[in-house]
Amino acid sequence: MKLSIMKNNINLFEIAEAPSKKQLVNHVRAEFKKQFDNQPKHVTITPGRVNIIGEHTDYNDGLAMPTAIDRWICAAACKSSNDSLTIYSLDYNESVTISFHTPNKFKGIWKQLAAEALHVITTEFTIKEGTNMVVGGNIPIGCGLSSSSAFVISITQTFCRLFSIQMEDRQLARLCQKIENRTLGTAAGFLDQYGIILSKKNHFMVIDFQANTIGYIPVSLKNGCSWIVINSQVPRELSKSAYLQRVNECKEGLEILKGKFNISTFRDIDNSMLEGLKNESNVLYKRLCHVVNENQRVCDMKDQLQQGTVQKVGKILKESHKSLKSLYEVSCEEIDYIIKLSMDFDGWYGGRIIGGGFGGCSIHLVVDEGVENFNDYITTNYTKRFGIIPEIINVTFPGGLQYV
Ligand code: GLA
Repeated sequence: MKLSIMKNNINLFEIAEAPSKKQLVNHVRAEFKKQFDNQPKHVTITPGRVNIIGEHTDYNDGLAMPTAIDRWICAAACKSSNDSLTIYSLDYNESVTISFHTPNKFKGIWKQLAAEALHVITTEFTIKEGTNMVVGGNIPIGCGLSSSSAFVISITQTFCRLFSIQMEDRQLARLCQKIENRTLGTAAGFLDQYGIILSKKNHFMVIDFQANTIGYIPVSLKNGCSWIVINSQVPRELSKSAYLQRVNECKEGLEILKGKFNISTFRDIDNSMLEGLKNESNVLYKRLCHVVNENQRVCDMKDQLQQGTVQKVGKILKESHKSLKSLYEVSCEEIDYIIKLSMDFDGWYGGRIIGGGFGGCSIHLVVDEGVENFNDYITTNYTKRFGIIPEIINVTFPGGLQYV
């Protein structure tokens, strides 16, 4: 399906519009029938996520505020008589058969994730029958909206349902994080899995990764604003190595501070302690400065969303972007340009890069009446500058996993 962006009756761009959740489910069901000449026994729909505030804090025992969005990975499955998982990906138009017994090496991340999921599940649980599965999604892939976490959760949860494996939500999150980190060679925290699995409709989560507690606050802004996600379409190429580098830098900074102060975790660090680090390593200082202040921004955001003003909410978003750009150094030219453009738009309150960074998406708070003009304004100027058409999504917050 195509979406036209019109101005003065002139068709400026035609971009492919993502299928709705209903269309996606129908498509996956129809493909299942085509591939396996059968009806699926279970259909699981797993959302992507955004993070309102609290970036690069999850693996530092910090705070974050994610929630699920109305973009999905849909998995349909039934048991088969083979000792293997046969899985067809609608997004890649490819299928693969993964044996339960022989470890395989596959080309293509989605196949590796599926193989690792199968390996972990068959190691931890007794599964005696095979599985046929079709998976398809409308989450932009590799853009900071957790498409790969949603993919892994989708497959894993579908297995659990098919083979009546009882698992608590946090156990499912742990298993899926392990599958993803092992396959991708990263050291990500729980932001994505918690944000997807434990999300509640029309609520933002407030997660404390140190205490392992989750609170929920309603998504309500008095002044009629929308949350807009802009996919810069910039691939997150540096993300793996630079992400690991950030994880290690933070650990190193904490170790140095432990030697100087009577502290044991990231949460014991305050800004006065950081001053001492500046002379030793400006890079470590910058990284931890981001982490300490980003945690504070989560607390401030919680207050402002409940009793504050949209202007103050927007200000926190802008400060977070500035910090991710200059202190944590995980932004990119294209997203910085989107933020710069937005600053001149009347009715834009604030925005920032989200997810791991180095490309992907940013989130913005825009007054309802301004959304259409904002989308046109960003699309026109961004396309003119970089020759790339951004994807703009007016996100809603549907809560976690769904089953049909
Ligand atoms: C990626 C990781 C998350 C989190 C974010 C940054 O999305 O998967 O665990 O670290 O980056 O906040």
